[in-house]
Amino acid sequence: MEKNITSFEEYKTEYAKSINAPEQFWEGKANNFTWQKKWDTVLQWDFTKPEVKWFEGGKLNITENCLDRHLEQRGNQTAIKWIANNPNEQSRRLSYKKLHTEVCKFANVLKNNGVKKGDRICLYMPMVPELVIAVLACARIGAVHSVVFAGFSAKALADRINDATCNILITADGGFRGAKITALKDISDEAMKNTSSIEKCIVLERTKSKIVMQKGRDVWWHNEMQKASAGCAIEIMDSEDPLFILYTSGSTGKPKGIQHSTAGYMVYTEYSFRNVFQYTEGDVYWCTADIGWITGHSYIVYGPLLSGATTLIFEGIPTYPDAGRFWQIVEENKVNIFYTAPTAIRALEAKGMEFVNPYDLSSLKILGTVGEPINEDAWHWYGSEIGKDNCPIVDTWWQTETGGIMISNLAGVTPSKPTFATLPLPGIQPCLVDEKGNEILGNSVEGRLCIKYPWPSIARTIYGNHKRFKDTYFSVFANKYFTGDGALHDENGMYRITGRVDDVLIVSGHNLGTAEIESAMDQHKNVCETAIVGYPHPIKGNGIYAYVICHNTPENSDSLRKEINDLVTKQVGAIAKADKIQFVNGLPKTRSGKIMRRILRKIAAGESDNLGDISTLLDPTVVEEIKITAQ
Ligand code: WT7
Repeated sequence: MEKNITSFEEYKTEYAKSINAPEQFWEGKANNFTWQKKWDTVLQWDFTKPEVKWFEGGKLNITENCLDRHLEQRGNQTAIKWIANNPNEQSRRLSYKKLHTEVCKFANVLKNNGVKKGDRICLYMPMVPELVIAVLACARIGAVHSVVFAGFSAKALADRINDATCNILITADGGFRGAKITALKDISDEAMKNTSSIEKCIVLERTKSKIVMQKGRDVWWHNEMQKASAGCAIEIMDSEDPLFILYTSGSTGKPKGIQHSTAGYMVYTEYSFRNVFQYTEGDVYWCTADIGWITGHSYIVYGPLLSGATTLIFEGIPTYPDAGRFWQIVEENKVNIFYTAPTAIRALEAKGMEFVNPYDLSSLKILGTVGEPINEDAWHWYGSEIGKDNCPIVDTWWQTETGGIMISNLAGVTPSKPTFATLPLPGIQPCLVDEKGNEILGNSVEGRLCIKYPWPSIARTIYGNHKRFKDTYFSVFANKYFTGDGALHDENGMYRITGRVDDVLIVSGHNLGTAEIESAMDQHKNVCETAIVGYPHPIKGNGIYAYVICHNTPENSDSLRKEINDLVTKQVGAIAKADKIQFVNGLPKTRSGKIMRRILRKIAAGESDNLGDISTLLDPTVVEEIKITAQ
């Protein structure tokens, strides 16, 4: 394994090399992996199409790199340490050898159930080792995994299955989350009523909930495993073969199936994992994200396993049985590197130190955050109360589309600054542009964040809709990848992410499209039109504020609010429920009919005295009415 960057000076040299000779730089990194055949060309790209190809001509399998190549040196080392939702349930440990065996077996299960290279497989599962086994089994035989977060509704699941025409669904009889059980199989059944592509549904027994198994379609994980033979040769994949699809919200109601490919993703997730977290041999690493999000893909599964690390997986939630659970797990497992989201940090800070103090956190060396801007107060609390002023914090900015961490300090190696993601990783060339796409040069400037050169783990397309991929990311500003985020630069060129500049809302670190929530609400028979905006929320970062126009004045506004939110839960999932719903008679619109969300955001934030110019509105009087009834 390659050595990590260990000083700021070395970072600067590496960065310079990566910019001056990117192909040579990444070729050097790619040489650290096992290939069935090396590549012919390192990089081919054209952002106008857009097309990006890394390591064309190369042949490999990512699971050979995650598993097989480690067996000789670390076969008995723990690959996965799993902690159950219930603190009294026995934890599980899977060595690299055991994980390899299970992945091979389940790969054979998939084959026995008719899976072929290139098929799309949907995974709707709780946070158990079998989810990782299923992910890697897909990759082993060249099937494309599409993991759907187990908090999504039946409708959201069906939409995702249909969009990618998945032929297999892997789920469980249920999932434990805090004091609740998520009825994953019932939800899957509901979803499968609205899909025609699923041929087989493989069901893991987890909660022993009473479920219905449909003959011919539904099979039990454990029965299939018993029948499957051991050992499964890798499918030899091309560098640019798709590895997975992961859905993320966009500015229309339809989620985007972000598609990643094999070799570039592998090279970048390993490199960024080791360097950002300064992973060293023997460290116990814990990322609290769900595998249903990109953070889980890149930094629970692929990055750590490619690096031969021990990755801890937790099934439950931070506050069950109480708000000390994370810290108890850190103590019991001597966690060295801990990676979580600002929303969790704020929620646990609010519960008070009596949940932190009982635990010995001295194993911690490095802390990380991801998913949304972290406020200064939470940053300090995390560093002093959890890190005991002894652990660098990495604030890692990236996206589903970027595949890996793009802007972040390297723990303890490059400088940190509260609320700043700081500097780009080697190979990453960010820039700030104005509304017309002109690059804003120099330091101490603010603009829209773009990336002007490809990196290995950049998404390759939106599944089935390359035009949308182009329009969303590569056409807003010519010849640049547009992130959708605003950012500023301090006097030293360090980046601070200021938040989304489009119609995507980051709520508790989850990426939600305003249009997706609006269209769910619009389905209520008494709802005529809606507009969703975010407003500052002390725990969630952003709360969801809905302005709703009704056909008829509601008789009981609270029960209508509940009905509307129930619809959102059904259509999207509970995470997308509105915190506040205000009934209004009109929305502020421009003459061309565009809702002026800027005004709605101000009102939702309680800043209605400072609305700025509203002269371009079709009917400025609606604003007065909205101000008076604001929640
Ligand atoms: C959006 C991407 C990256 C994995 C989790 C989210 C926001 C992410 C940070 C950060 C400020 C951040 C951005 C970005 N974001 N990390 N460290 N500081 N904002 O992935 O769901 O694709 O969301 O999350 O707005 O665009 P995602």
